[in-house]
Amino acid sequence: MSNQPSQNGGLQDNSLVKLVILDPSDRSREILRNQVLGISKLWLESECTKYEVLGGVLASQSAPDIVSVALDANLEKALEAISLVAQKYPQTAVLAVSIQQDGQAVLRALRAGAREFLTIPSSEEELMEVLGRLLKSHSPGISTLPGRPKKSMTISIIGSRGGVGCTGIAVNLGATLAIDPENRVVLADLDLVLGDADVALDLKADYTIGDLAANVDKLDLTFLNRSLSKHGTGLYLLPHPVNVGEATQIEEIHLERILALLRASHTHLILDLSKGFRPTDLAALHASDVILVVVQLELSSLHNAVRLLAALHADPVLGTRIKVILNRVGMITDITQAKAVQLIGEFSWEIPNDHKTLMDSRNKGIPLCSLAPDSKVQQSFKGLAQMITGKTPDKPAAKSFWQSLFSKA
Ligand SMILES: Nc1ncnc2c1ncn2[C@@H]1O[C@H](COP(=O)(O)OP(=O)(O)OP(=O)(O)O)[C@@H](O)[C@H]1O
Ligand SMILES: [Mg+2]
Repeated sequence: MSNQPSQNGGLQDNSLVKLVILDPSDRSREILRNQVLGISKLWLESECTKYEVLGGVLASQSAPDIVSVALDANLEKALEAISLVAQKYPQTAVLAVSIQQDGQAVLRALRAGAREFLTIPSSEEELMEVLGRLLKSHSPGISTLPGRPKKSMTISIIGSRGGVGCTGIAVNLGATLAIDPENRVVLADLDLVLGDADVALDLKADYTIGDLAANVDKLDLTFLNRSLSKHGTGLYLLPHPVNVGEATQIEEIHLERILALLRASHTHLILDLSKGFRPTDLAALHASDVILVVVQLELSSLHNAVRLLAALHADPVLGTRIKVILNRVGMITDITQAKAVQLIGEFSWEIPNDHKTLMDSRNKGIPLCSLAPDSKVQQSFKGLAQMITGKTPDKPAAKSFWQSLFSKA
């Protein structure tokens, strides 16, 4: 199920690294582009297809962290471009790239100011190693990029059937985290067709995730932050597209880039996923640090939970991120909690049933931390936030159930 590179090379903090590719050759430009698009920490700022335009491109935007310059199309022009970057933009590192292994050309590129050289196509490991070395030698330029929180946590919420309580958890968890002034929290509604996080927060947004995906090539931190709507609690919202048709235009590659930028400017990302296990949901799961699987004591929810958890635990990486949340505890039901534990293992957290308070909150568009801060259900959301952010310990039994099942297999 993995669609993300596992290694991080030297890209070890949460900074987003901005890259410009300069390469007149469609073939080699495409090779490098496809490789870097798979690395969530890299932000492909722009691609230049002519050596002559690089100066203008760099003058029109904030200096990138790395410029890759292809040597093959015209070595003399490539060397001029490298010198220009080295002299005018000392905080930008130049990576010389070439399909050929011409030692003389590489030497001249390094003398002109290139920091590293990469033969393409390269393995993912080689690319990550080179990028890591480049960034180490240019760390001051990266650490001074504005508005970057030190750490960011991405939390996906996925349901075991419709109406199981995902959006309620996303909104209330997000708002609970957002009232802490040290946090900058964004909720992205990835239930792209039927989402209703905007309704739950009573926000009318000017922009949606559909606008960001449609303009993904022009997307930068300024554009992204202007597109978010802010709730009174401090929670930012990136709503689902207005038109249902737009949802089908959003692909994993768009989402990966949007999430990378959101991570660069927020401490917490809450992702309210669809129930369709779509490619965008999978991309979100792979980008997450924590996956909350929401369950109720009800037959179809538990039945689906078994299937969903089996699929997630089959992936060794995703399996370690899962926390199963039991919602609406106390609701009248034929299935006991003990039976549910037998089926799917211990729950990491339990949220009490409180239909009246939740309904009131949804109808007014006010999260519980503002509307009913002392209610038992809000206290539960607060505890959930603390458990996820590591302020209280997780139940060890919740982890061992599926791990032991899969280790026997
Ligand atoms: N702990 C709870 N106690 C009582 N009612 C709840 C609780 N959690 C959710 N609900 C109610 O369940 C209904 C569905 O909740 P919600 O919209 O959050 O679920 P969902 O999984 O996002 O649904 P969908 O599949 O439509 O996206 C809402 O009416 C909500 O008020
Ligand atoms: Mg929902």
